[in-house]
Amino acid sequence: MARIGLAGLGYWGPNLARNFDDLAELAWLCEPDEEKRTRFAERYPDAQTTGSFDEMLADAELDAVVVATPVPTHHELAKRALEAGKHVFVEKPPAMRAAEMDELVALASDRGLVLMPGHLLLYHPGVQKLKELVDTGELGDVLCIYGNRQNLGIVRTNENALWSLGVHDLSVILYLLDEEPSEAVAHGRDFLTDGVEDVVFCYLRFPSGKIAHMHLSWLDPHKMRRITVVGTEKMVVFDDMELERKVTVYEKGPWQRAESYGEWQTRSGDITIPKIPTDEPLRLECEHFLALVRGEGDRREVARDGAMVVRALERLTESLGSR
Ligand SMILES: NC(=O)c1ccc[n+]([C@@H]2O[C@H](COP(=O)([O-])OP(=O)(O)OC[C@H]3O[C@@H](n4cnc5c(N)ncnc54)[C@H](O)[C@@H]3O)[C@@H](O)[C@H]2O)c1
Repeated sequence: MARIGLAGLGYWGPNLARNFDDLAELAWLCEPDEEKRTRFAERYPDAQTTGSFDEMLADAELDAVVVATPVPTHHELAKRALEAGKHVFVEKPPAMRAAEMDELVALASDRGLVLMPGHLLLYHPGVQKLKELVDTGELGDVLCIYGNRQNLGIVRTNENALWSLGVHDLSVILYLLDEEPSEAVAHGRDFLTDGVEDVVFCYLRFPSGKIAHMHLSWLDPHKMRRITVVGTEKMVVFDDMELERKVTVYEKGPWQRAESYGEWQTRSGDITIPKIPTDEPLRLECEHFLALVRGEGDRREVARDGAMVVRALERLTESLGSR
């Protein structure tokens, strides 16, 4: 059984601790805050606790490190863990710059280690359904995808809406299309905190001609967690706010009658709601990481996909900053 060390016991780390304690051996908990360390030492008495990342890395029996610390620390901690010969699961995004991500990918590849970014939404059974519908050609040719991730709050003051909310939708869009955008443009405004955009609109265009859009905001009357894929045969909506209708498939599309001299018409058929398993995405994500550590599956794929997300984020960020 893999021995796991977890860094960061803030908001998200405890969810990872719970899952890795169930699925593997949670051997170390690393957190600089003494109060949190004491609290979680009581909950996981078999794990060793420390405030020092280096002390955890010095354990020669430790197989893998899970990083759930603030984003600016990810690259440095992941790099140190890889250099110490540990497999790494690092929360999204693993780095803030494409060059830093490339460095991590190269390090993991050279040492034959797993470098897996925490792109939780890719493990959502609803997103897996979208992927199946795209890959089997059931939607026809995909024309465009757009994501809505809006709500009133939580207002962040140190991370803009693109970095806080956009990573999720970006990872899904790139996963569904499996293409690197040739154009990536973002517009946004910092209404509440100087330099921190509360509302961001992103536009992506791909070499195949497909386009995508993301609306990211914490200043919005609608709570939306939605991804829409428009194909030539069918259109599909993944709505994570819905309890039972997570995915809705619309048999709608453009249509050209032979005798109508090139005039476009539209057609509407059945609307179907496929059954989506209720498995916890985080558990599936942790299971995937452990499978990669065991040598099952393609280790390079997750690192490569993570790098594609960081590259697109960097380009969107540059375009946002230039306005
Ligand atoms: N996948 C998801 O849906 C999801 C959801 C929330 C957060 N996250 C990600 O999880 C990460 C953590 O977010 P959070 O909201 O828990 O942040 P947080 O600020 O609540 O917690 C971070 C913790 O890391 C600790 N820490 C800082 N430096 C450390 C170090 N060098 N070694 C060990 N611990 C250290 C801090 O003391 C703090 O307890 C972020 O990357 C965030 O993007 C992912």
